[in-house]
Amino acid sequence: MNPALASLHPYPFERLRALLAGAQPPADLPHIGLSIGEPKHPPASLVLQAMATELQTLGTYPSTQGVPQFRQVVAQWLTRRFALAPGALDPETMVLPVNGTREALFAFVQTVIDGARAPVVVMPNPFYQIYEGAALLAGAEPYFMPSTAPDDYLPDLDAVPEAIWRRCQLLFLCSPGNPTGTVASLEYLQRALELARRYDFVIACDECYSEIYFDEAAAPPGLLQAAQAAGHSAFERCVVFHSLSKRSSVPGLRSGFVAGDAQLIKAFLLYRTYHGCAMSVHTQLVSIPAWRDEAHVIENRRLYRQKFATVVPILQSVLPVDMPRASFYLWPRVTDDERFTRELFERQHLTVLPGSYLGREIPGGNPGRGRVRISLVASVSECVTAAERIREYVRGMER
Ligand SMILES: Cc1ncc(COP(=O)(O)O)c(C=O)c1O
Repeated sequence: MNPALASLHPYPFERLRALLAGAQPPADLPHIGLSIGEPKHPPASLVLQAMATELQTLGTYPSTQGVPQFRQVVAQWLTRRFALAPGALDPETMVLPVNGTREALFAFVQTVIDGARAPVVVMPNPFYQIYEGAALLAGAEPYFMPSTAPDDYLPDLDAVPEAIWRRCQLLFLCSPGNPTGTVASLEYLQRALELARRYDFVIACDECYSEIYFDEAAAPPGLLQAAQAAGHSAFERCVVFHSLSKRSSVPGLRSGFVAGDAQLIKAFLLYRTYHGCAMSVHTQLVSIPAWRDEAHVIENRRLYRQKFATVVPILQSVLPVDMPRASFYLWPRVTDDERFTRELFERQHLTVLPGSYLGREIPGGNPGRGRVRISLVASVSECVTAAERIREYVRGMER
């Protein structure tokens, strides 16, 4: 067996199952799940319509690089969305289809880490669990930067010791962030780029929530945009990860892409060729209309905006909770996150996720402790019912 498997931590949802085992929720209250970040809005209809066409492509093996039309549409979308210089992003050498960002985040780490040089992978804390698992399986040591409220939940890059930067081979950023909903500014991303240049490491920016934000006039910036602004015109050392899962509410489609530095994409293509994770041509063709169209994404954001506007005031009457800058998560403070989660399940038949399960112990404590993650993915009416039940539970605790 690969001994690194033993270093993996139990996945948060496994821990949640154990926490709730044996609990007896009231049978008359229908269960509402708020723990998983799985979009529940209707899947984009233009994706569903396209599913029925091009079925004959299932008769061919897909190439790992993907079909040119897919890569071209992605390059056009990135150029439009992040105001890149026309032609700066070459669809031939700078874009690859991936089966959702999850597998790509994992596989990318295996591609870039040189295990012989005592590698470190720097990442936020709390964080999307794949970053750590991928680092451990690549033989790297994770280094955790706390994402906490005093800094608007943005990890302080300048607090990382120089000895860590010297060993860092890969920096993970997540913007908009899961679970905090923080958004990195262009200046923040440029500071990361300065460090990457100085210490010669790669930045993997997980931007899978980039299209879920609340102010139509303030779309979150991206790493490629920051690279361009900093004069890294070939996106040196940068790779971004995007997906249709949240943008178009199709998490089951498994459709995403990576884009950035051509040298890194070339190495990643080589790795993926052997890994055998080409996206089916059918999925690529079905994805094209979803990257071309913004109307369905604007409508998706409208639903989230409406939901947050209704739910947040209900919760704010009983819990310290801020409106996030982006994403579909709330990250309220609670006294004891495990107890809160278990009691909420037992008394109100609601599932949330203890924040400590998304974080790691570091000096100063686990920055997820004393928080719960609430995914506002269900319908507006279900989320309002859930918020009312949370209010009732918290009021009951106070009595
Ligand atoms: C931060 C983050 N990155 C990546 C993913 C993976 O998404 P997908 O593989 O559907 O693109 C998720 C899913 O919830 C996520 O929260």
